[in-house]
Order: sequence, then structure tokens, then C-alpha cells
Amino acid sequence: MLIKTPADIKASEITDRSVYLQRRQFLHTAGLLGAGLAVSLPGLALAGVRQKLAFSKNRAFSTSEEPTEPGKITAYNNFYEFGTDKYSPAKLAQKLTTRPWSVTIAGEAEKTGVFDLEDILRKQPLEERIYRLRCVEGWSMVIPWVGFPLGDLLKTFSPTSKAKYVEFTTLARPSEMPGLSRRVLDWPYVEGLRIDEAMHPLTLLAVGLYGEELPNQNGAPLRLVVPWTYGFKSIKSIVKIRFTEQQPLSSWSRANSREYGFYSNVNPEVAHPRWSQKRERRIGEFLKRRTLMFNGYAEQVASLYSGMDLKKYF
Ligand code: MTE
Repeated sequence: MLIKTPADIKASEITDRSVYLQRRQFLHTAGLLGAGLAVSLPGLALAGVRQKLAFSKNRAFSTSEEPTEPGKITAYNNFYEFGTDKYSPAKLAQKLTTRPWSVTIAGEAEKTGVFDLEDILRKQPLEERIYRLRCVEGWSMVIPWVGFPLGDLLKTFSPTSKAKYVEFTTLARPSEMPGLSRRVLDWPYVEGLRIDEAMHPLTLLAVGLYGEELPNQNGAPLRLVVPWTYGFKSIKSIVKIRFTEQQPLSSWSRANSREYGFYSNVNPEVAHPRWSQKRERRIGEFLKRRTLMFNGYAEQVASLYSGMDLKKYF
């Protein structure tokens, strides 16, 4: 499925040695080679073969539901920077350069600056968590992510008392993202969380799925996963994290605030202005199922919103 044998590899796919060495360095700093789990074949890195990751399984934070087939998770995507139809990202995102990758930390924190993803990953032990993902469009999947809690990373920058929200920004590189030529959204893609949502132990920064590095179409090399909100909150290919005092304006709210609010909690009682949210189609299943409040995570997250009118703050 994801692994190619040497006989399948075209000359055009063979990686330049300098890129290969960079990749070795990444794996080394991420602790993968040390763990002896990464199968790193010379010339294969970055050539469409994703590295296996070393991680522990976090069962307490995982659903026991059957994960969606990997081929469906990686073929049916929303990543508008690569086009608005579901099948374009899998084709067009393959050229995205995801190494080296840096993340800018800005705003209301004691420590800010530009950080190399390798340095970030060196300090974050990875775990697998199987989460439901519910898209606002009415479909859902179950995805075994590999990542680390966002809050663990945010704390290392010592946010100040003015940090009430966190804003996230996706890469906008027109040379590699053909979808940017159409202004379907105001690029770059921006999302935001309230600081307590960002610090919640369920909120994950994912670097992989099904035990391997994230495919580009799923948001490589670093994407957010907020399992109780509609999928559009789970911003992909993050290049900037900014602590703010004011509520950030997300790309979707900017595009259409009547349809897409800041909180975006999965809520079967609040219909999208153009369709009901009461039911969903699990990808790979025929019959629709009932959508659960907070996507089934109510026990863990409902207290974040106690006292709020969720019809107003949707
Ligand atoms: N992030 C960026 N940068 N651009 C996007 O278009 N789409 C969002 C979200 N993150 C999107 C994004 C939407 S609408 C969904 S449903 C999920 O990504 C889909 O994630 P998946 O393709 O990994 O299933």
C-alpha cells in the first residue's frame, strides 16, 4: 500500500544525496534512527515512501471504533491549497517540499522566534491516538494519528497572561500550491483556538498517520487535530503559531461568518445554514449514522463551553 519495493521506483523518484542526508538528520534528531524503528533505505527518503515513526499507543485517548482504510484517508481530502475537489490534493500535493521546515512562534509569549521542526520534534515523544474526524460537509472518518499534545509544545514558549487565543497559519507557497491561484479563501489559511481549547489534552499536533509520516495531502509535516470540532479547524502544514489577546479571524469565518463560526464545535443541534448536521456518512459505510455532540467527546470537553449559548457561539 504505502511501501514500494526497489523495483517499483523510477529513476525520477530517486532522491538527491543532500536531501537524503537532510532526511537522515531529521530522523536522527527525531529519535527515530536511535529507536531502530525507521527503515531508511538510501535513495528512498522523500521519494513518495514515508518513514515509519516510533511512538507509543495512547489507548485512553483513542476510540475503539474501526479506523478508516488508509487508502481512503489519503485519497479523499480537503486541502484547498491544492484544489477544491477531494481528489486533487493526493495528486497535486506530492511536489510540496516539507523539509527543511520551520515554525514561527510569535505574539504573547516569553519565548518567540523561528524554530526548526527537527528541534521541536526532538523534544516531543510521539503517541498514536485514534480519533474521529467529522467534516462540516457531513462525512466522517476514524484516523490513527501519530503526534503529541499541542499544549506540551505551547508551554515550552511560556505564554503570557495576555495569551487568550492561539492563531495558526498554513504555508502559502504559490510555486508548490496550485490552489492558491484561485481566491476561494483569503490565503494563507488561518485558524484559531481559545487558549484552553489549545491546552486541552485531546488537542493534538499530528506528524503522522497509520504509523508513518503524514502524507502531504493530509497536512505534512505538521497539522492540528481538534477532534471535537469540525474538520476545518484541523489546519494543515502549519508554519506559524501566534499567541494573541484578541480572538483570531479564521479563514472560514472571514469567507462566510454566517456559516462558519469561531468555535465550530460538532453539534447536531446547530444546522449549517444550508444543511442539517444531525447525521453523517462514515467514509466506507453505506448507511448514515447519527452525529454525536462534540463528535463523541462531550465527556472530555463540554466543560470548556459551560454557560455558553452554543447556538450563538457555533
Ligand atoms: N487546512 C488547510 N490549510 N487547508 C484546507 O483546505 N481543510 C480542512 C482541514 N484543514 C483544510 C485544512 C478541512 S475542511 C478538513 S475536513 C480537514 O482538513 C480534512 O483533513 P484530511 O484531508 O486529512 O481528512
